[in-house]
Amino acid sequence: MMAGPKIAPSILSADFAKLGEEVRAIDAAGCDWIHIDVMDGHFVPNLTIGPGVIKAIRPHSRKVFDVHLMIAPVDPYLQAFAEAGSDIITVHAEAGPHLDRSLQVIRGLGKKAGVSINPGTPETAIAHVLDKIDLVLVMTVNPGFGGQTFIASQLEKIRRVRAMIGDRPIDLEVDGGINRDTAKQAIGAGANVLVAGNAVFSSKDYAANIAALRSAV
Ligand code: DX5
Ligand code: ZN
Repeated sequence: MMAGPKIAPSILSADFAKLGEEVRAIDAAGCDWIHIDVMDGHFVPNLTIGPGVIKAIRPHSRKVFDVHLMIAPVDPYLQAFAEAGSDIITVHAEAGPHLDRSLQVIRGLGKKAGVSINPGTPETAIAHVLDKIDLVLVMTVNPGFGGQTFIASQLEKIRRVRAMIGDRPIDLEVDGGINRDTAKQAIGAGANVLVAGNAVFSSKDYAANIAALRSAV
C-alpha cells in the first residue's frame, strides 16, 4: 500500500529576509520536499522569486526542490529553472497552448515534469499528457497567495485524477489551504503530497507542525 504522505512546505510563507536559514530549518524539521512558488504578476496577481533565488538557496538543502511555476509564457524560462537546481518543475496547463512541448522540454533538461491545474480547470486537461509527467498538482485555492481557504469542490477532482493516474508512477500533490482537516480530506481523496505554507510556517515549531500534518492522516 501507499506510504505516508510527503510534506512539502511552501517557502512562500517563510521569512524572505533569511531564506537560507528557513530552508535549513524545514529540512531539519523533517520535510520531504521544499515547495517553491514562482509568480510573475501576469499569470497570477503576485510576484515572488526567480531562478537567482533558487540558485542561492540550493546549497542549503539536498532535499527535492519542487518548483511550481505560475508564469506565462513558461517555455523561455525552463532552462534557467533547471540550471538553478530544481528537481521537479511544474507548469500550469492554463499557462500556454503547448503544454505537451513544455513537458518534453522539462524532461529533456533531465528534470521531473509536473502539470498543475487551477480550481476552475477540469481534470481532462491532463488526459493526454499522462505519459509525459511525474506529478500532477491540483490547486485547492486560486494561485497567487498563501493563507487562502481550501476549495472543497476540488476533492472530487482529486478523486478523478487519482483514477486517471491508475498504476502510473505519478505523484498527486495538492496545494492551497492545507491544514490538519483538509490534509486528511485530500489524502482520503487520493493525494500523496501535501504542500503547506501557513500550516508549517505560522508558528515556530516547524517539526511539530510537519508532524501534525503527517499524523492528521
Ligand atoms: C498559492 C501557492 C501555494 C501557497 C500555499 O498560489 O501555490 O503553494 O503558498 O500556501 P497555504 O498552505 O498557506 O495555503
Ligand atoms: Zn505552490
